[in-house]
Amino acid sequence: MADDYPDVWTAALPYMRARKNDVHVPLAFDFALQLLEHHPEAEREVVLLAILLHDCGWAVVDQEAIFTEGFGPNMMESDVRRAHELEGVRIATGILDTLGYPAAVRDAVVAIIDGHDTRREPRSIEDELVKDADALWRFTPAGVAVACDWFGETPRAYCDRTELESGDRMNTQAARDIARREQARTRRLLRTAELVDPVAAP
Ligand SMILES: [Fe+2]
Ligand SMILES: [Fe+2]
Repeated sequence: MADDYPDVWTAALPYMRARKNDVHVPLAFDFALQLLEHHPEAEREVVLLAILLHDCGWAVVDQEAIFTEGFGPNMMESDVRRAHELEGVRIATGILDTLGYPAAVRDAVVAIIDGHDTRREPRSIEDELVKDADALWRFTPAGVAVACDWFGETPRAYCDRTELESGDRMNTQAARDIARREQARTRRLLRTAELVDPVAAP
């Protein structure tokens, strides 16, 4: 994996500990690689750079606000969520310019990062694949482990909720197929059929 854009991974590293980006982003990057196999028409470089850098902004927004504002009923529209997109655009621009990427590539990448959460309607196939790759980690065991704590839910409750939402949150059929495959595997591994409700320890 690190063979793809090792210079960008290195430049992004200072921004990767925030909000479990160093778990979320590598998983999302791998999903982007899988989605690109189904969509050879997409600009591979734009998709991969955008998914790699999309959440850098979380590292420089108010850490407390991530949890107080970043989750909840209107989480996708919260101010802190918009702030992480704008900071992500700023950071990604700096990284790509410093590393000498062409302006056209940089502009296409940051156009996707700007609004990757708050803009619901994708504008291109590259935008669609980034949104899908970003969302798919929630179906992995690691994604469930992290996100069920963020949302104060059991793994089973989180799987139930994301399964209900998954159909209409994915833009591509390839992502829907991956989501179903990952969710079935995760439910099996985490035994969500057996671990129905939390029970107090004896
Ligand atoms: Fe994000
Ligand atoms: Fe993300």
